[in-house]
Amino acid sequence: MRRHLFCVFSLLSLSSVFGQVSYSIPEEMSKGSFVGNIAQDLGLDLKRLKTGKARLHVGSSGEYIELNKERGVLLIKDRIDREALCKQTTPCALHFQIILENPIQFYQVNVEITDINDNAPLFKMSNMSFEISESAVRGAKFVLEKAVDYDVGINGLKGYSLNPSDNFVLKLTDNAVGEKEVEMVLEKTLDREQQERLILTLTAVDGGETQLSGTVKILVTVLDANDNAPVFTESTYKASLIENSPKGTSLMRVTATDLDQGTNGVVTYSISGNTDDILEVFEIHQTSGEIRLIGKVDYEVSKHYLLHVKARDQGGLSDSCKILFDITDVNDNSPVIDLMSTTQSVPEDSPFQTVVAVMNVHDADSDNNGVVKCYLTDSDTFFIENTSKGFYSILTNSDLDRERASEYNITVTCSDEGVPSLSSSVTLTLQISDVNDNPPVFERSSYEAYIVENNTPGLSIFTVKATDSDWNQNARVSYILEDSSVNGVPVSSYVSVSADSGVIHAVRSFDYEQIKDFQFRVKAQDGGSPPLSSNVTVKLMIQDQNDNAPQVLYPVQTGGSLVAEMVPRSADVGYLVTKVVAVDVDSGQNAWLSYKLQKATDRALFEVGLQNGEVRTIRQVTDKDAVKQRLTVIVEDNGQPSRSATVIVNVAVADSFPEVLSEFTDFTHDKEYNENLTFYLVLALAVVSFLFITCVVVIISVKIYRWRQSRILYHSNLPVIPYYPPRYSDTLGTGTLPHVYNYEVCRTTDSRKSDCKFGRAGSQNVLIMDPSSTGTMQRIQSEKSILDEPDSPLEVSSMD
Ligand SMILES: *[C@@H]1O[C@H](CO)[C@@H](O)[C@H](O)[C@H]1NC(C)=O
Ligand SMILES: *[C@@H]1O[C@H](CO)[C@@H](O)[C@H](O)[C@H]1NC(C)=O
Repeated sequence: MRRHLFCVFSLLSLSSVFGQVSYSIPEEMSKGSFVGNIAQDLGLDLKRLKTGKARLHVGSSGEYIELNKERGVLLIKDRIDREALCKQTTPCALHFQIILENPIQFYQVNVEITDINDNAPLFKMSNMSFEISESAVRGAKFVLEKAVDYDVGINGLKGYSLNPSDNFVLKLTDNAVGEKEVEMVLEKTLDREQQERLILTLTAVDGGETQLSGTVKILVTVLDANDNAPVFTESTYKASLIENSPKGTSLMRVTATDLDQGTNGVVTYSISGNTDDILEVFEIHQTSGEIRLIGKVDYEVSKHYLLHVKARDQGGLSDSCKILFDITDVNDNSPVIDLMSTTQSVPEDSPFQTVVAVMNVHDADSDNNGVVKCYLTDSDTFFIENTSKGFYSILTNSDLDRERASEYNITVTCSDEGVPSLSSSVTLTLQISDVNDNPPVFERSSYEAYIVENNTPGLSIFTVKATDSDWNQNARVSYILEDSSVNGVPVSSYVSVSADSGVIHAVRSFDYEQIKDFQFRVKAQDGGSPPLSSNVTVKLMIQDQNDNAPQVLYPVQTGGSLVAEMVPRSADVGYLVTKVVAVDVDSGQNAWLSYKLQKATDRALFEVGLQNGEVRTIRQVTDKDAVKQRLTVIVEDNGQPSRSATVIVNVAVADSFPEVLSEFTDFTHDKEYNENLTFYLVLALAVVSFLFITCVVVIISVKIYRWRQSRILYHSNLPVIPYYPPRYSDTLGTGTLPHVYNYEVCRTTDSRKSDCKFGRAGSQNVLIMDPSSTGTMQRIQSEKSILDEPDSPLEVSSMD
């Protein structure tokens, strides 16, 4: 709707200006639209307009309006845009003149252009962008670009609105120039993590009747602020770790998330607040959070490891978590055997279950890896016993015998029950010390020895030998002749035994014809304390020598009377005259007799049986044969050399006794000679015997004196002495010589010094020392020095 305002001004004083007229039209009228009836309003008729050649003088105003002369009206010639014409200036008017010629006249015409709401509020930018940190506080202001509305007045810009208005509100303020400033005020803080980008619409409206509006987008980018700390996925991690895991093993990974962006969200990890030893064992990768092993984990040192791990972003915000590593035991420790006490040696007679060693065994591992069992390699002789936890004793199991095994290497092996099992072992050497538990043993259960009769006294016959399996002193064997009697005579008068060598000597000369054999016992005794002994029977057999000549029993050789065998002259050939009977006390060949005729009056008449000694005739007796026949028969034994005896056999060849008597009177002259011979023999024997007894008594006296002296020495110096039977002190015996001969045997090279051993009748022993003997003294000295040595293993057994 257009409203036409007509204003008519009367100009009085101006010569050329005859009047003016004003119109008011809205802008944007279409071409040819009516502006005003100028002819009517100025009072001009249409002819004058034609004649006057009326025209419009627009000057600089532009030809928006034209003059229609026929109708005398002003019409819109061109579109009038008030905003283009006047911008914001009000009022906006076109000023031009209507000029007439003949006469020249002109009229002032003002056409006011009124605004219509043809412009919407307009934002110059298509959108506005803001980058606002999420840390911006409430009340923060952000100036927005204003909208422009070219219309003026009521059609101009009226107000703004913002949508959505969750975070921001609009605020209009007047600035210094009086313009309205529009601001956006933060009402509710932003959170990038919730909404990173906000799109708001700012709408500007004008006040026109038909309200127009313009919008602009406000893009708000929320800038990150480090408002979020890193957060671990778990506050406590648990993991198990096998001990002795190799260095560099990747164990686990912890993760902390930081909602922030960019550097604010970059998390670095570190192990914090831990002692140095943890840092030597574990390391964490700074960015990845991977935990690796860099040291040695030993279950025996620590069963758990607690790590505090810190995650930190660039802004300095941090979180921490705990990691608990449980260390799993591995069987990496062998049992340790600690020998607490050991015995170097035990006597062989130690009782069953004697403790020889005590030890402590422990294993640093846990559970089965630390459960230890111990056993012995040589389990026959010893056994091991678990006395209390971790403590073991080694005890003897069976009877010990030094003679069987004098040394044991006892190997103790302890192994745990881990898989695989670890074990360790220790060997201890145990000596078994000797106890005198073995008697001397003779090499044979009995001995038989032979000696030819008529031996030299002092002859060594043979040797008995006994061995003792014990050690040292316990094995030192002495030989002793056991006391017994042979035919009522002490056996010591027959034989003696050398104490240290076991050599048996004949004390006397044996006579087979008196004693053919005898037995005695020799005792072997060791030097232990108490001593052990055994005995053996020795059978000594005396062998015969041909020391006896045959003895003729018949015919009896009497001194005075004469015996003759009678042979009748009528005797046939082979007549048994007599039989020579002879015996030989020797035995065997030595007693095997043979008879021969040695001499005869008439060899052709008699013969003697070689074996039986029978004297027979070998031819017919004749008258020419003499009455008196004398035969000499020799009896020989078969010994080497042989011995013989002769016998004279008188034979009377006669038929009557008186004939014989006359012939035999000359046989008697032999008798006196025989009686004289017997007397002298007895006398000589008596003298010799007396001298011999005297001699023996003197020698024995001297020997007793020396023996006493040597016995004193014996007591003082000799530590080991053979056992002396009780009768020893009575060695003098009686000194008498009942039926036995005493012999003194001296076997030293130098008999002057009397350093010798005696085999003595009536004394059973043995070893007699002479103090003047340098050799014996040396031996005593050396034995004494052995005994005096402090470390000597010998046991000293005193005589007393
Ligand atoms: C015991 O061990 C030692 C040293 O190894 C060795 O000389 C000795 O013969 C061993 N004894 C036994 C009875 O095995
Ligand atoms: C000799 O030994 C036997 C056993 O061999 C024993 O019975 C006897 O008593 C011993 N004799 C003497 C005298 O010691």
